[in-house]
Amino acid sequence: MDLPPGPRAPAVWQTLGWMARPAAFMARAHRRFGDPVTIRTYWTEEPMVLFSHPDAVREVFRLDPRIAPAGESWEFLRPFAGRDSILLLDGEAHLRERRLMTTPFHGERMRAFGPVVAELAREELSSWRGRVVTLERMRHLTLEIILRVVFGASAGGETAQLRGAVDGTLDIVRSMPQLMAMAVVRRDLGPRSPWGRFRLAVERFDALLLDVVARRRRRPDDGDSVLATLLEQRDEDGNPTSDRHVRDQLVALLVGGHDSSAASLAWAFERVARHPEVQARLRGGDPAYLDAVVKEALRARPALTIAPRLLRAPARIAGRDLPAGVQVAACLWLAMRREDLWPQAAAFRPERWLEGPQPNPMSWIPFGGGVRRCAGAPFAEMEMREVLRAAAALTIRPVRPQGERARRSMLVVVPDRGGEVLVG
Ligand code: HEM
Repeated sequence: MDLPPGPRAPAVWQTLGWMARPAAFMARAHRRFGDPVTIRTYWTEEPMVLFSHPDAVREVFRLDPRIAPAGESWEFLRPFAGRDSILLLDGEAHLRERRLMTTPFHGERMRAFGPVVAELAREELSSWRGRVVTLERMRHLTLEIILRVVFGASAGGETAQLRGAVDGTLDIVRSMPQLMAMAVVRRDLGPRSPWGRFRLAVERFDALLLDVVARRRRRPDDGDSVLATLLEQRDEDGNPTSDRHVRDQLVALLVGGHDSSAASLAWAFERVARHPEVQARLRGGDPAYLDAVVKEALRARPALTIAPRLLRAPARIAGRDLPAGVQVAACLWLAMRREDLWPQAAAFRPERWLEGPQPNPMSWIPFGGGVRRCAGAPFAEMEMREVLRAAAALTIRPVRPQGERARRSMLVVVPDRGGEVLVG
């Protein structure tokens, strides 16, 4: 079975493009070969077929998980994510877990987090003067938000202690190639070996997390955190979720919600800094415009570029027969910059969200789609709104006029100079 055409360059060369200049690499492949296009990189062992047309994207999101399990793509994370992690499950078990995990991110419960996020954002932005590397600051802020709002950590000591443990552990988890190597050679050669260090970091981290869980169980009325909602859950037999399981849920929220939110916010600053007219309108305080800026930032610079699924059996997508053993992906990046669907796709124009017809839901997909759509999407959008609302009080200029290029930082795509801006 022939795969759709794609670049002929050796995999090592394609990997370089994919990592160092992902936007240019995907755009070139799309221009030259159209939709779909097959790329070969060391990112995955298998060739990957990228789809960007909304009809094809819908078909990818609707693939039966028995044929195209998504959990397998996260397998390398198992030692950290844990056995019950939503990231690793597929089928019924995944849906059950999803029902539990999306509860705190809806309706009143979700809205109740807004003021805390706004306060943390204002605190963070109050110290901004001169040159600011927004990616660094947003990594700090989004972690603070997760610890306080999701984990329910108290300000001060508890947050500081967890921050230290999370930073140390995530640094290791982020170095994916190292982790992959560890998955192959999982021999514990003592606490100084990479695997040994990783294991120790996870153990230390787990001890802290389980301690937080135990404390919250003892004093359930300690606050309205996501964790408090998770602790109220009962399984089908009415039993509470085990501490270990709650730990896995917290880690999934951390892995899913930290880097992706930080990268998306850094991109929002990178874009807004180059558009004084957008800043002026944001200052007007119109909530519909604020929402449009968030949607446009997520469209123009999505933090994740693909939602991949590994085909276990042959499948037909967009009229193409594809064999087992290839990766198929909804290409978020390409789908959101198709000129046929997004007039002046390269331009940053929040107004497009306030004019004319709303886009096809399968063409605005920064959070993926189908049964694996981002479980924290409403939270992530709220977080972006609150940070940009707080930032409206500042005057932000770019350090250099030309827009920043995209580069990969492990699982996400970030501005290559960290979204640097001048404040004041
Ligand atoms: C702007 C920030 C964010 C972006 C761009 C983003 C994007 C995504 C994407 C593309 C996926 C995979 C979808 C797929 O494979 O079809 C995903 C999954 C997920 N995200 Fe997010 N995310 C963001 C923030 C968050 C936050 C704040 C949380 C939680 C607090 C979160 C939790 C998750 C979880 C748990 C999953 C796995 C869902 C599943 O497998 O069913 N994300 N996210």
